[in-house]
Amino acid sequence: MNSSNSISPVNLTDLNTSNLPTHVAIIMDGNGRWAKKHRINRIQGHEKGSEAVREVVQTCREIGIRHLTLYAFSTENWQRPKKEVDALMVLLKRFLKSERKEMHEKNIRMSVIGQIERLPQDVRAELQKVMTLTKKNSALHLHLALSYGARAEIVRMAQVVSQKCKSGQIDPEAIDEQCVAEHLYTHGIPDPDLLIRTSGEMRISNFLLWQIAYTELYVTPTLWPDFGKDEFVHILKDYQSRDRRFGRV
Ligand code: FPP
Repeated sequence: MNSSNSISPVNLTDLNTSNLPTHVAIIMDGNGRWAKKHRINRIQGHEKGSEAVREVVQTCREIGIRHLTLYAFSTENWQRPKKEVDALMVLLKRFLKSERKEMHEKNIRMSVIGQIERLPQDVRAELQKVMTLTKKNSALHLHLALSYGARAEIVRMAQVVSQKCKSGQIDPEAIDEQCVAEHLYTHGIPDPDLLIRTSGEMRISNFLLWQIAYTELYVTPTLWPDFGKDEFVHILKDYQSRDRRFGRV
């Protein structure tokens, strides 16, 4: 599904508001291929991708989704050419500056998961501004995964938990799933109900490995810059048709 394979406009009232996913997570993939298809450079593809970010955030707010996690930059993305990494950081900063006011007015709270200490100082300052401004907001909670990798998150959890065992704060015998979850970046956030990946790749790419144990998956061939409200609502309708059994009969 993409702009050339059009998706019929949908009516939001078709959605069953009592069966919405509480938490939607998205692997936003395909900016580079979109750029290639349109014979422009990869950075312009990311620029177009940030417009799609804006649309999906506003759509979640409108529909009443409570948590949205966007995989915006992975730990592996640091290995891309410096020019592309720098451009992504500039785009992120631009996005934070331009969206800050509207996010706050629309009662959207923004937080970050990942190794924020690795981000450039100016980006961290901008993130801090938005997080501080929006911290009491309660409609939609937007989680940006930045310099995020699930394996690094699990390693960090193991280090913190073992330190706490050493200092006597945690009894090793008492370590259970709840204890692990409480020491991940996502503590306090419900696990995703629905994970969407754009651009057709059938993989998880080191995203929320612990948290997606029982998450419903949806992979669309649409390249991220072409992803919009109509397709998002179609996916929500598909989600609503699924029978979630969580390992039970
Ligand atoms: C994947 O496309 C996308 C990314 C690595 C970054 C996602 C970034 C954005 C959507 C824009 C900026 C983000 C915000 C929050 C404003 P790709 O480059 O891997 O595409 P390809 O697989 O087709 O090459």
